[in-house]
Amino acid sequence: GDVHGRTAFITGGANGIGLGIARALVRAGANVVIADIREDSLAQAKADLGADAQVETVQLDVTDRAAFARAADAAEARFGKIHMLVGNAGVGVMGPVLDARFDDWDWGMGVNLGGVINGLVTILPRIKAHGEGGQIVTTSSQSALIPISYSAIYTAAKAAVLGISEAIRGELAAENIGVSAFMPGPVQSHIAHSGELRPAEYREDSGYRQREEELEQRPVSPLWMSADEVGERVLAGIRNNDLYILTHPEFGAGMKTRFDAILASVPDEAINQDRAKEIGFLLGN
Ligand code: NAI
Repeated sequence: GDVHGRTAFITGGANGIGLGIARALVRAGANVVIADIREDSLAQAKADLGADAQVETVQLDVTDRAAFARAADAAEARFGKIHMLVGNAGVGVMGPVLDARFDDWDWGMGVNLGGVINGLVTILPRIKAHGEGGQIVTTSSQSALIPISYSAIYTAAKAAVLGISEAIRGELAAENIGVSAFMPGPVQSHIAHSGELRPAEYREDSGYRQREEELEQRPVSPLWMSADEVGERVLAGIRNNDLYILTHPEFGAGMKTRFDAILASVPDEAINQDRAKEIGFLLGN
């Protein structure tokens, strides 16, 4: 649907992909509320976007549920209604599973999955209540479709976010709320600096701290897609209510290999017709 004059609440919108999405939405005439944990980035993003009449910023840690409700209140106070939730805030918690400690799992899942859940619980009822419909966009990742080594924690969260998005799509259609799962490949962003955001309580029992400090030194490849390009792709996906928004054709073959392997594992046995009927019923057919 059209986004002009409608309001998007974008978590992690002060840098990288979220800012690219914000830029595309502002250009299309939407209002955006940028919620981010980084105070300095919020001020910078507001200055970059320029269009002050369409932009509100709010400092938010997406793992803080009470603060999430206050941020949503602030968004409604400014623009009246929230129509779109872009659950995008995320951190790159990467490393060998054998080094992963509970602090790594808890922080990674808390932000990358918990942040999306907190957004849904906080904002979905508000979208339903105003009755004008809307759109949920979740930033999953290409890694949800082709899990790679050293990404167990990240992939766990991103696969869950994809699964949630697919599961709620049918339910929310009845409320005129669309759902899109965004699964970008490599994009130029600030994600290598995620370690700066690791809270003190998740630093004691971590096996990834040194790796995170090394990652910060690594330059962003010029071959990675720009945040503005992916932002435009997300805008098109919102307008079209696409369930899946992808960015990189380079991953197509790998996805096919994976799904062919899954299909090849379906038992090659006769279908029990009664059971098939019941399964169809479970699937809502
Ligand atoms: P980024 O670091 O440039 O932007 C993420 C933003 O989220 C930052 O502004 C950060 O301050 C904010 N944030 C982090 N933790 C937060 C918290 N607890 N509460 C509120 N805000 C928080 O990174 P990027 O790459 O733009 O990441 C955006 C999303 O895209 C993430 O979910 C990431 O996992 C996902 N993604 C990124 C890819 C890439 O190649 N850059 C590829 C696939 C997915």
